[in-house]
Amino acid sequence: MAEVVLDHVCKKYGNFVAVDDFNLAIPDGEFCVLVGPSGCGKTTVLRMIAGLEDVTGGKIYLGGKVINDLPPKDRDIAMVFQSYALYPHLNVYDNIAFPLKIRKLPKREIEERVLRAAKILGITEQLEKKPAELSGGQRQRVAMGRAIVREPKVFLFDEPLSNLDAKMRVQMRVELAKLHKMLGTTMIYVTHDQTEAMTLGEKVVVMNKGRIMQFGKPDKLYDKPMNLFTAGFIGSPPMNFLTCRLVQKTDGVYLERENFSLRLPDGAEKVIGNFAGVDVVMGIRAEDIYDKLFAVGATPSNTFRVKVDVRETIGSDVFIYFTIAGTNFVARVMPKSKAESGQEIEVVFDTQKLHIFDKRTGERLW
Ligand SMILES: Nc1ncnc2c1ncn2[C@@H]1O[C@H](COP(=O)(O)OP(=O)(O)OP(=O)(O)O)[C@@H](O)[C@H]1O
Ligand SMILES: [Mg+2]
Repeated sequence: MAEVVLDHVCKKYGNFVAVDDFNLAIPDGEFCVLVGPSGCGKTTVLRMIAGLEDVTGGKIYLGGKVINDLPPKDRDIAMVFQSYALYPHLNVYDNIAFPLKIRKLPKREIEERVLRAAKILGITEQLEKKPAELSGGQRQRVAMGRAIVREPKVFLFDEPLSNLDAKMRVQMRVELAKLHKMLGTTMIYVTHDQTEAMTLGEKVVVMNKGRIMQFGKPDKLYDKPMNLFTAGFIGSPPMNFLTCRLVQKTDGVYLERENFSLRLPDGAEKVIGNFAGVDVVMGIRAEDIYDKLFAVGATPSNTFRVKVDVRETIGSDVFIYFTIAGTNFVARVMPKSKAESGQEIEVVFDTQKLHIFDKRTGERLW
């Protein structure tokens, strides 16, 4: 079993806390993605798991055993870095074979493993080449090959695709997912790219400032972010936010601010009625705002007259940008919407899809 567990793990550099009270269980065979902005501690977490960095506090378990004091070479964990770190003077075959030669495996076995890895990665034709003769994507495959031949219990990936161009990144993403299916090995993957995280991860862990903000299945993080940070980080374009106040009126609960009033659906009252008077942040995703001409369920309370600042067409998606109460919004509307830049239209908010966060704590209220 190669379950990885981090139990109250923390890492300090002097007084600076890089990773703070990190608790996470990654079951055997799972593809787990750590995602968060630059400097939030992703690499540090991986390096602690690999044994390249001491743990300041807490415990790391691999397959049920504490590995805090186990040297990296005894951990049975392979790490793939952003920089491929290939040996320029060795050809592809020898680069992949390198970790096995160090372990002094028999020549036959080395050859078998290298050829198998090369086949999985589709680089059998490149084995004689030197790294300088390869494309970025091929180099990254060689780096992965070097990890695969070790047949580790756990793979760690630190932004392995970020040196590739956009198209190659998408292609390698698909191959990584296939690789995981084929090998069934526990994989922990670090990225700051939320799209990559959402498409690859069985479990996605959103980090900020050394802490876990939320973890779960990608659709759960998207549909029900538990705090403002996760709400703003997951999703593209980012969620629209508007600071308001929760106001209890005779006919229901309203979100209000100057030049803005929106009645929440029946039932909201029960959940957040007792937060009346609290400053909140309303969140709504671009696809939950409609051009009124194509909306069902428009009412005077959820409909707003706006001026379209910009209409943007990206392939099959049409985005319109506008402001409400002095705040920028973006809506993803039906391609057949005729809303053009400069035009006044009415937009409808799907109030069932609203997210409401406590402005002070950032916690989800509704
Ligand atoms: N050896 C070190 N000494 C002091 N501070 C460090 C050291 N290594 C990392 N840090 C700090 O710890 C924090 C987390 O660093 P880490 O490299 O884990 O971030 P990251 O999430 O991987 O960021 P990125 O996306 O930029 O790679 C950063 O603020 C960094 O400056
Ligand atoms: Mg990093």
